[in-house]
Amino acid sequence: MACAGQGRRHLVLIGLMGAGKTTVGRECARRLSRPFVDTDDLVTAAAQMSVEQIFAEAGEAAFRKLEHDVVADVCASPEPLVVACGGGAVLDPENRRALRATGVVVWLRAPAATLAARVGDGSTRPLLRDGAAPALARLERLREPAYESTAHVSVDTDAIDVDEVAGAVLAAFARDAESGKPA
Ligand code: S3P
Repeated sequence: MACAGQGRRHLVLIGLMGAGKTTVGRECARRLSRPFVDTDDLVTAAAQMSVEQIFAEAGEAAFRKLEHDVVADVCASPEPLVVACGGGAVLDPENRRALRATGVVVWLRAPAATLAARVGDGSTRPLLRDGAAPALARLERLREPAYESTAHVSVDTDAIDVDEVAGAVLAAFARDAESGKPA
C-alpha cells in the first residue's frame, strides 16, 4: 500500500554493487504500486548489449555516457518511479544533481566484506573481474563522498533482510518526501 506523503518524487536507490538496490527496489515498487526501473536494464536496452559487452567493446566511458542519458530520462519521467541506479551512476555530477532534484535518494549501505560475500567472486560485473572483495573495498573508499553527497538518507542493510530493508527505505521515503527536503 502506498505511504502517505510520498508525493510525486521518485524513490531512488543508490549504493555499491551488492547493496540490494534491485531486490529492495522491486519490493518497494510493489508496495508503492509504482513502476520499477533499473538503470542497468535501461542502458542494456538502449545499447542492445549487456553491461559486460559495453565495457569490453566500447569502454567504461561509453557506458557512463549511456548511463547519464538514462538517468536524465528517468529523472524527467512525469510518472513517479522507483529507480535502482547502477553503483557508479553517482560519479557524474549531473546525475547527482538530477537524482537529488527529482527524487528522495536512499543510500543502501553495507560493509564491503558483506557486499563481496553477496556478489561472490563469480560476478560478471566488469569492475569486479579481479576479485570482488578488494575491488569493493577500493570503490567504497573512492565513492563514499559521492554517495554521501547524493543521498538524502542512508539505510544500513548489513544484518537485515529484504523485507526489513524495504520497510526502512519506505519509512525514510515517506518522511523525506513529506518534509520536501531541498535538492
Ligand atoms: C557498476 C555497477 C553495476 C553496473 C556496472 C558498473 C559500478 O550496477 O552499472 O557494472 O560502477 O558500480 P549494479 O550496482 O546494479 O551492480
